[in-house]
Amino acid sequence: MTFTSNILISLLAIFILFNSSSAANLVYNVKNYGAKSDGKSDSTTPFLSAWVAACASTSPATIYVPPGNYLLRSIMFAGQSCKSSAITIRIDGTLLAPSDYNVIGNSGNWLKFERVNGLSIYGGTIDGQGSRLWACKTSGKSCPHGATSLAFYNSNNIVINGLTSTNSQMFHILIDGCHSAKLQGLKVSAPGDSPNTDGIHIQESTGVAILSTHIGTGDDCISIGHGNSNLWIENIACGPGHGISIGSLGWDLEEAGVQNVTVRTVTFTGTENGVRVKTWARPSNGFVRNVVFQHALMVNVHNPIIIDQNYCPDHKNCPSQGSGVKISDITYQDIHGTSATQVAMKLDCSKNSPCSNIKMEDVNLSYMDQPASASCENAGGEASGTVEPSGCL
Ligand SMILES: *[C@@H]1O[C@H](CO)[C@@H](O)[C@H](O)[C@H]1NC(C)=O
Ligand SMILES: *[C@@H]1O[C@H](CO)[C@@H](O)[C@H](O)[C@H]1NC(C)=O
Repeated sequence: MTFTSNILISLLAIFILFNSSSAANLVYNVKNYGAKSDGKSDSTTPFLSAWVAACASTSPATIYVPPGNYLLRSIMFAGQSCKSSAITIRIDGTLLAPSDYNVIGNSGNWLKFERVNGLSIYGGTIDGQGSRLWACKTSGKSCPHGATSLAFYNSNNIVINGLTSTNSQMFHILIDGCHSAKLQGLKVSAPGDSPNTDGIHIQESTGVAILSTHIGTGDDCISIGHGNSNLWIENIACGPGHGISIGSLGWDLEEAGVQNVTVRTVTFTGTENGVRVKTWARPSNGFVRNVVFQHALMVNVHNPIIIDQNYCPDHKNCPSQGSGVKISDITYQDIHGTSATQVAMKLDCSKNSPCSNIKMEDVNLSYMDQPASASCENAGGEASGTVEPSGCL
């Protein structure tokens, strides 16, 4: 054998070795890092150690959480210096927040991911154990703000599949500053009277899809804040709760708008709102445009279709009493069912910046087996097909 062919063979061997090791999926079982599944021992440090190990892997890595209950305080999973860009967290157990709300109630978030690229979470239950905090809030005592159960900041290529999130102190899931996230087959639940327990809140993000998900909470099922584009929300059951809301927007004068949002095939059951756009009655250069609400069934919903541009609780903080947020190109198509109030369609647009190009097609909402009514201000656009209640556009 010649010297050159020896080198070639060595190079080949290194190449094969490198390739096979990068294809291996290494598994980091949290129990091997000291996590206890008794629901009482604090497993925060073991979970963090498993994360650090998976994150340092140059191969795809899986963190495995076996069946059982794991008590966790607030954790930040930092992805900034991760070598692996394919981390999977497979959960067969339940993650429990401390039942004493003072432990995590002032930390903002319970399970927080920051600057993570390529993370998938499969299965599992996360239980925020929020009931004592809600009771404190409802009693009017002074209590912590509460923590969001699962939060993603400035992260890309996220998949959450088959997760159950229950009884969060505050928001159940937050997507903030993210690009490309797919949430599928989730169950999100908290009692209908639990304060601020929004299901999924999205802001400053692009390319987020929420699919085949059941959400019933004490606040919005899904809320879409400022700076979002290219959202796809499909096959959702919502209720109890406040419905699917774009907003509140327009608190700030300079605010990134919301555009290209599709919400389709949603059943709203007994919710306060169905599909809502809500803006503060304050000056703002924000906007909402290119939104499609399609194929929705309303079952006894208080405000099935609503645009509220005069949001100003207690008439405080709204100097000009008119929203600057420009709403245009909103389509409502194939929306039917029952309203729990007489006014099933309310387009209360801003006198300063009227809504334009609102399209209604095949809408049929009734109230107590009677035709419902519509109430509209400063809304322009067109109706086609059946539109009941009529008279708005
Ligand atoms: C709108 O968003 C969808 C994803 O929700 C995306 O596929 C589509 O390309 C976007 N359209 C525009 C014009 O950006
Ligand atoms: C609207 O729905 C009601 C109740 O389902 C139905 O009786 C009525 O015929 C529908 N109206 C139109 C115009 O389709």
